[in-house]
Amino acid sequence: MKIIVTESFAKTCELAATMIADVIRNKPDARLGLATGSTAQGVYPYLVKANQAGELDFSRVNTINLDEYVGLAPDHPQSYRCFMDENLFDQINIDKKNTIVAKGTGDIEENVKAFREALAEKPIDVQLLGIGVDGHVGFNEPGDVLYDGAHVEELEESTIDANARFFTTRDEVPTKAISMGMGDILRAKKLLLLATGESKAEAMKGLLLNEELDVQNPATLVKTHPDVTVIIDRALAEDIGYRA
Ligand code: GLP
Repeated sequence: MKIIVTESFAKTCELAATMIADVIRNKPDARLGLATGSTAQGVYPYLVKANQAGELDFSRVNTINLDEYVGLAPDHPQSYRCFMDENLFDQINIDKKNTIVAKGTGDIEENVKAFREALAEKPIDVQLLGIGVDGHVGFNEPGDVLYDGAHVEELEESTIDANARFFTTRDEVPTKAISMGMGDILRAKKLLLLATGESKAEAMKGLLLNEELDVQNPATLVKTHPDVTVIIDRALAEDIGYRA
């Protein structure tokens, strides 16, 4: 695992965007595995800026997102499809037909099947990851069992609490999501995991301070990946007592 400590969250995001841009420049038809949440949200403006400056071409790029809430239609403002359109796709020269976000409404079983087929089509060249307060990646929540492939996940109360900030009331937060499985994530050729903020300290301790693979902290499984870069800022590194 390569661990990089930056001066600030902005630097973390800039570096992650540079690494994603490098993947695209080396492989113009790369498949990007993308993430939502405020951490990933910090990365996209740098990709948009590079694209709009004519320095990065998305015309042949294709993307697949980690997850989507069950119960939110693609045009719901808090759906991850909507998040991706607003924060990235609508601002760059990507063909929307080449962007995959699982569908959270309609026949969910069929949607999971379609998502699994999309995942099997081609490997992900680089997967961007945030981390939940409980260590979830995508929406793979802690539990006695983790899943290999795409599936429906019941969200933990702590995840619902954390995501309630995006909704008017807590009752509106979906309680389930379609998520890539841990295996899908670990099959990506390159992983980029970013974290910031003290709410992530406990989960990040499990990732950075010991060698345990802990099903109660799913992010720890990325330790097994041959090409994973974890980027955190100095404030978080100090919080968890991480020294390079
Ligand atoms: C959601 C997403 C995750 C993301 C996590 C952390 O649960 N499904 O992919 O990593 O939130 O989000 P944030 O970056 O907003 O803390």
